[in-house]
Amino acid sequence: MGMERKRKRKVSLFDVVDDTCVSAKLAKTNGFAVHGNDTNPLVNRWNGRPYSKRYLEILEKRKTLPVWHQKEEFLQALKANQTLILVGETGSGKTTQIPQFVLEAVELEIPDKRRKFMVACTQPRRVAAMSVSRRVAEEMDVNIGEEVGYSIRFEDCSSSRTVLKYLTDGMLLREAMADPLLERYKVIILDEAHERTLATDVLFGLLKEVLKNRPDLKLVVMSATLEAEKFQGYFYGAPLMKVPGRLHPVEIFYTEEPERDYLEAAIRTIMQIHMCEPPGDILVFLTGEEEIEDACKKISKQVANAGDVYGPVKVVPLYSTLPPAMQQKIFDPAPPPVMVGGSPGRKIVVSTNVAETSLTIDGIVYVIDPGFSKQKVYNPRIRVESLLVSPISKASAHQRSGRAGRTQPGKCFRLYTEKSFNNDLQPQTYPEILRSNLANTVLTLKKLGIDDLVHFDFMDPPAPETLMRALEVLNYLGALDDDGNLTKLGEIMSEFPLDPQMAKMLVVSPEFNCSNEILSISAMLSIPNCFLRPREAQKAADEAKANFAHIDGDHLTLLNVYHAYKENNEDASWCYENFINPRAMKAADNVREQLVRIMVRYNLKLCSTDFNSCDYYIDIRKAMLAGYFMQVAHLERTGHYLTVKDKQVVHLHPSNCLNHKPEWVIYNEFVLTSRNFIRTVTDVHGEWILDIAPRYFNLENFPQCEAKRVLEKLYKKREREGEESKN
Ligand code: CDP
Ligand code: MG
Repeated sequence: MGMERKRKRKVSLFDVVDDTCVSAKLAKTNGFAVHGNDTNPLVNRWNGRPYSKRYLEILEKRKTLPVWHQKEEFLQALKANQTLILVGETGSGKTTQIPQFVLEAVELEIPDKRRKFMVACTQPRRVAAMSVSRRVAEEMDVNIGEEVGYSIRFEDCSSSRTVLKYLTDGMLLREAMADPLLERYKVIILDEAHERTLATDVLFGLLKEVLKNRPDLKLVVMSATLEAEKFQGYFYGAPLMKVPGRLHPVEIFYTEEPERDYLEAAIRTIMQIHMCEPPGDILVFLTGEEEIEDACKKISKQVANAGDVYGPVKVVPLYSTLPPAMQQKIFDPAPPPVMVGGSPGRKIVVSTNVAETSLTIDGIVYVIDPGFSKQKVYNPRIRVESLLVSPISKASAHQRSGRAGRTQPGKCFRLYTEKSFNNDLQPQTYPEILRSNLANTVLTLKKLGIDDLVHFDFMDPPAPETLMRALEVLNYLGALDDDGNLTKLGEIMSEFPLDPQMAKMLVVSPEFNCSNEILSISAMLSIPNCFLRPREAQKAADEAKANFAHIDGDHLTLLNVYHAYKENNEDASWCYENFINPRAMKAADNVREQLVRIMVRYNLKLCSTDFNSCDYYIDIRKAMLAGYFMQVAHLERTGHYLTVKDKQVVHLHPSNCLNHKPEWVIYNEFVLTSRNFIRTVTDVHGEWILDIAPRYFNLENFPQCEAKRVLEKLYKKREREGEESKN
């Protein structure tokens, strides 16, 4: 069969196939079909199974998507160019259809079925990678994880059969670390390029290099909106293909006065729409999990209070840590009327930015845009990166309102004034690379063999100060030597998909005889908050949490939770009884397992100090300090904490479990709000600081402060003790 195919095949590299259903024409002229297998067009060529009825149904729907009208043009452009830029309105079918078109083209080019080829499509958001790959698996009538898969940090749902892989941009970057020319891929699609995430920006520069060395590789850059000229200029004048959207008009409303509480205003607006406007689903943009869950509860309550006359309502949340089955609910239809002839139902989706461009929900007629999203900010001077709820850009506001006009004319309610839109919103969101701590990125680039960071081809080069800070951090951690070259330690650190501090803590933990515990703590720090605190049972939840509390620190409290979870056989009902989120714990277990694999691969010993030894917790705290010595705060005589060297006034986050105010703490996170908090803190000792990070705490280049004076005393005490022991 293979032989026959080879002989009969007349189609060459990326030849144009101008039929919407490639199979039909090819089947006739060449004796085989793309949509079917070689002998039977009704059999799925990817897995040899007959097509389901659902496949044919979806196919009809797919063909109505705008990108299908330009399939031929796209394939032609792909054939003729190594790099291609494609811009199309959200919902035009870019993410779901283009990779399938590409797959057909690539498959035609490789007649030998045994030869492995793959197409990658990156997504900045994990939810989108999961959700879209599921959809495409359904469209191709294959099981997710087989021919179509996805890969996100700590979760690889792909196999040796996978030909089309959706993966986060960060994961593709990680793959490049092991496979610098990304040889397993024939075509790489960078989707949602307008989001300009850190990883996508790095991939831009990297792929430009890879393309030079791999003439057989092709790159498609896709985006909803784009500063087209800038992109074309950057990609050596690559052709730009535009897919016209099919947007219905959207009427935009502003508030007369600024809103003081956007959440309250959003809920009020939902109720007004629900009670006064014709049928149609509602999409509300909020900023994060907690806010969204809270809003969902409030909305459900108010809807229930309003009564049945307005029709049934289904409220669905959408955010990145939601489990996949729940994520799919946004695509469920609105509920049917309660009785025949009753008011039609409404779906209300309460989502983060992911619904702005990454995921398209059909049937949305009303959009509520409070004008905020959670954005990363970084201040290199004080080395603080934080997620802040910040005003969105005009481009974002435009995208959000567009979501209302997908299937019919719609309305967008902006919960800010028109004046504020015109005067206060920036035209575009700044690329993430200009707002991030780059320590992790620099470590990745070094591992990729890119030494000259200053001349790396960034589309928007980061501030030199930010790059300097990153190099400095990595040097202090021992990942880079004084010439900026990757050390052996740095090399191992880069293998962990974690921040450099955490990676360092893990790599050195065997020296402190506690790698098992540090693994558990790292896993717990890598998942969303595991403590449940429902509004109606806050006191009980706080009491439950207190049972796990370790007086010396929140990291140790997390360790207690993990141990208790394992001792109770990972039992979900035990979790609920103790106000622990079982999903988070399962995720932690999974993360831990993967980190263990990396430890074993690099011969890092898995060990523990005897639990009954008084050194058990001390060893753990010392190991943590070995990674996080740059995140230390000192208790001043005034009663507040100052971060060491950067001298920022900070407060212990109210969620802490300490029963005292330690003189020195390490912290996991700096939370920027009206007050600066440090969250997840653990008590460490001044003497340990001298032993573990003498270079960072070298007093010669230490700003004047109380911490310095205390350290000076400690050093002097050491000297005296040294002399005494000599005498
Ligand atoms: O990428 P782009 O925004 O251009 O569009 P897309 O994500 O490929 O979506 C094309 C169509 O597929 C839209 O009508 C979506 O609503 C639909 N879709 C879906 O029904 N279920 C999914 N899980 C993903 C997309
Ligand atoms: Mg898309």
